[in-house]
Amino acid sequence: MYIEQIRLENFRGYTRLHWQPDPSMNMLTGGNAQGKTNLLEAIFYGLTGHSFRTYREREIIRWGSTFCRVEIKYLSGQHLNTAVVLLTSEGKKQKGPDGGRNRLMDTVPLPVVFTPDHLLMIKGSPAMRRRWLDQELGPLLPGYQFCLRRYHQVLAQRNALLQKIRVKNGSRQELDPWNQQLATLGARVINMRYRLLAELSPVMREIYSRIGGGHEKAGLSYLSSIPLERTSAEGEIVDIFIRELARLFDEEINRGQTLIGPHRDDILTTINDRDVRRFGSQGQQRTMVLALKLAQLEVGKRFFGDYPVVLLDDVFSELDQNRRAQLVDYLRDKTQVFATTSQPACRDMTGPAGRVIIIREHALY
Ligand SMILES: Nc1ncnc2c1ncn2[C@@H]1O[C@H](COP(=O)(O)OP(=O)(O)O)[C@@H](O)[C@H]1O
Ligand SMILES: [Mg+2]
Repeated sequence: MYIEQIRLENFRGYTRLHWQPDPSMNMLTGGNAQGKTNLLEAIFYGLTGHSFRTYREREIIRWGSTFCRVEIKYLSGQHLNTAVVLLTSEGKKQKGPDGGRNRLMDTVPLPVVFTPDHLLMIKGSPAMRRRWLDQELGPLLPGYQFCLRRYHQVLAQRNALLQKIRVKNGSRQELDPWNQQLATLGARVINMRYRLLAELSPVMREIYSRIGGGHEKAGLSYLSSIPLERTSAEGEIVDIFIRELARLFDEEINRGQTLIGPHRDDILTTINDRDVRRFGSQGQQRTMVLALKLAQLEVGKRFFGDYPVVLLDDVFSELDQNRRAQLVDYLRDKTQVFATTSQPACRDMTGPAGRVIIIREHALY
């Protein structure tokens, strides 16, 4: 897909903007706090109805305004579509390409966002890797986010009950229905994560060997807090989950929290069968992140039939010359890219078809 037109009204610092971006590479340059990331955020918001930066959605409305509006005309397949999101101080109205409400996610490929935070993904906490799985890959599978939300609701209620039992204010029998629900929903989440990683893993391996040098073999696997013994069948996961909850009963009561489940799981990345997190050089870790993000793009295409747009926020300045070139080479002629940089040296990365745009005080030049 590619975006033909973007119209903004009262989005963060943008009072009004009407812009026709380049179909290939758009390099957005300019000093700090001029509106570069805000523009990427607006694109993401217009297509998905969510911000990739904040949960406090209303902060995107321009200070002093009562609403903001994002309109994006994009070409997907042979069709020219329009996505509109209108957010007022009272609530949100969203229109998808078919005029339907709140149906955007089903039809628009989720943009692939890449920020310096992603570069910390390997070194960082398991929570960071779960966030990547849940927010960037999960939406590719229908039902994933619904199921995950339900899981977290049940988890919170189960934790509350564990704490009550600890102070002798509840019984073990009361826990049974919660165990069943937790295991059922948890198994579904785990099973879907397996499916996502099974799609992603071979693509990542292929890309890693292309950009990281052929002699290194990259791997990706799911590390569950539940001893799954290599099964990914939903029914079996439910059984093992429930069995483990019974085994951990005393410990969970002591700690007052649920100790196993998708909320404790992780992803393991390896190079030549060694954990990249523990043994990889910084360079290998960065190449791994690049490979994961590019694999995400390919898997996005597989699920939606069309490449998503790519939003690169400030990543060029964090990458060395070599990886920067590999990233641009990979993306060139493949999909539309919006990249921000405050470094003049990165401006020449656009290639012949691309365009350099200067952003100053939320205006484009
Ligand atoms: N709701 C808002 N209304 C008006 N201006 C905003 C709002 N939210 C953020 N800003 C402005 O946007 C600036 C940050 O813009 P940003 O795009 O993140 O900068 P950069 O160009 O460095 O990426 C802030 O300094 C602030 O002035
Ligand atoms: Mg920025």
